Amino acid sequence: MRRSYTLRFLFLTATCAVIIVGLHFYMYIYNKRSSQDNSGQIIVDKHQPSSFRLFEERFSKTDQVSSQEGQEAEWKHDPRGNLKHKIVHLDLKGMPLTVKAFESLFPLLAKTGATGVLMEYEDMFPYEGKLELISNKEAYSRDDITRILELAESSNLKVIPLIQTFGHLEFVLKLSEFEKLREVPKYMQVICPTNNDSVIVLKDMVDQVMALHPKIEYFHIGSDEVYHIGQCPLCTGLMNKIGIDESQLFLRHVSFIAEYVKNKYKVQPLMWDDEFRKLDEVSIQKSGIGNLVEIVVWNYNPDIENHLPRTMWEKYSRIFKSVWVGSAFKGANKPNSAVVNETLYLGNHYAWLRTMQDFEKLLTFKGIILTGWQRYDHFSGFCELLPSAIPSLAACMTLLTAPTIQPMSKILMETSLKLHCANFLNICKFPGSILHQEIIQLEFYKESFKKLKEKHVFLGWAEESNLRHRFSSPSHIELIFQEINSIKVDLDRSRVTLVQALQELYPQWSVDEWMSSRFEPFFNKVQHVHTGLTNILEMNTFPRRPLENQVQDL
Ligand SMILES: *[C@@H]1O[C@H](CO)[C@@H](O)[C@H](O)[C@H]1NC(C)=O
Ligand SMILES: *[C@@H]1O[C@H](CO)[C@@H](O)[C@H](O)[C@H]1NC(C)=O
Ligand SMILES: [Zn+2]
Repeated sequence: MRRSYTLRFLFLTATCAVIIVGLHFYMYIYNKRSSQDNSGQIIVDKHQPSSFRLFEERFSKTDQVSSQEGQEAEWKHDPRGNLKHKIVHLDLKGMPLTVKAFESLFPLLAKTGATGVLMEYEDMFPYEGKLELISNKEAYSRDDITRILELAESSNLKVIPLIQTFGHLEFVLKLSEFEKLREVPKYMQVICPTNNDSVIVLKDMVDQVMALHPKIEYFHIGSDEVYHIGQCPLCTGLMNKIGIDESQLFLRHVSFIAEYVKNKYKVQPLMWDDEFRKLDEVSIQKSGIGNLVEIVVWNYNPDIENHLPRTMWEKYSRIFKSVWVGSAFKGANKPNSAVVNETLYLGNHYAWLRTMQDFEKLLTFKGIILTGWQRYDHFSGFCELLPSAIPSLAACMTLLTAPTIQPMSKILMETSLKLHCANFLNICKFPGSILHQEIIQLEFYKESFKKLKEKHVFLGWAEESNLRHRFSSPSHIELIFQEINSIKVDLDRSRVTLVQALQELYPQWSVDEWMSSRFEPFFNKVQHVHTGLTNILEMNTFPRRPLENQVQDL
């Protein structure tokens, strides 16, 4: 027990030393490390708790994967040649950045090689008039939007706004005022395309977004994952009346919106491609949509070959002159991921290069949109935060922009250098890097707690019923109390760091939402055990069995 106290103390000292000294002398440390070829003596020493071993494992695994990826592929041609646009998706439907945060973010994105940003405003756009209610109460102001666009322009970033116009309209259809526009009364994803009021709302949304984006060249109309088509009485009525099926109804609505954008504003509409995958070629050809929209073919896996078949590419090649691809640098692992797996997302980008190489004779790949989902949809929790994904983004961009296509191990080393990381992609220096670091740290605490709960002492003497009855053997409880106590001390420190680092980038309501979903529930679990064990340690004598009447509320 004394030993674990000492370990904790050493660990805390080391952490402080890293944060205070490490950030100032990162280059020195980095050089020293790389010349010694014994990574992280300063940061990861033998005395640190198991969580750090986890960290080491994570990165040694990454190294193993990385040395393979990208090597075996013989790059016959460089498929990146035509990729004119490299657009970073900013998903603002969760953790929207403050306007001030864009001041440091945009130059960073430009430095990685991005040529533009896809702004998915969702409810953060300041809608007005009849649409006022669909905006978040803390949405950006009109001045905010103008300022954000100025900042983008001064970093030479093209802005592409995205608004959903068919599916994923939860933020509109969840409201009682817009309930009538749902395709399926119980579900709020899809708007009914046949209802005249839907059309009024969608046109109004396009008009309002266009009014604040006077200089744009592309406008993304979303239209992915349209789960329910042609189910309401208005739709079935129309389908019967004019003799069309669900596919044609889909194409009719999408064409209508695309035409509206293109004709009224002389702006090129983009849309996600997934609904086209299952549609038959004749219907698509007949609709003329191939001349209206440019599609963004998205897939976030490291084995695209297994998801997007050759027949799909052949079909697309006969319909669309050029296509964009949609990759992912975050937000495509698990809906509640906190730490970014760089290997996974970089793997997706290698897969895209292979795919482009395979099909570049069939069609032109005109641009890539690197998606960075912040939520899976309007109702889901948070996945990886943007600062956690800066190393991933920088790595993917390095792959896309380096003079030649390099193997993964090289890309990761280069990225680590670019971001001034002291320990692989850890302890780096970029806007938001403290948050990136602290979120990794929080995962370690979770892992430590999980391991503690698996110990025999915990399983036998610190069960929920032991805690509730204040009934256990103090000598056993003492064996685990110091560990739970040090996790609690770590979390108290972590909370302060997290809140401060979040406040640098996000508005307070977002900081609160993140803390209450990603930090507090874990803290409460630790606190619960801590209180229970403390209570037991205060006991000198214990009651006779049976125990039913001594249940404690913790
Ligand atoms: C929608 O508007 C069209 C004409 O703009 C009209 O013919 C049609 O009856 C309207 N449908 C409904 C359900 O109101
Ligand atoms: C990261 O992703 C790679 C590729 O999918 C996988 O092999 C690896 O196990 C993942 N690492 C972690 C820590 O989940
Ligand atoms: Zn309908």
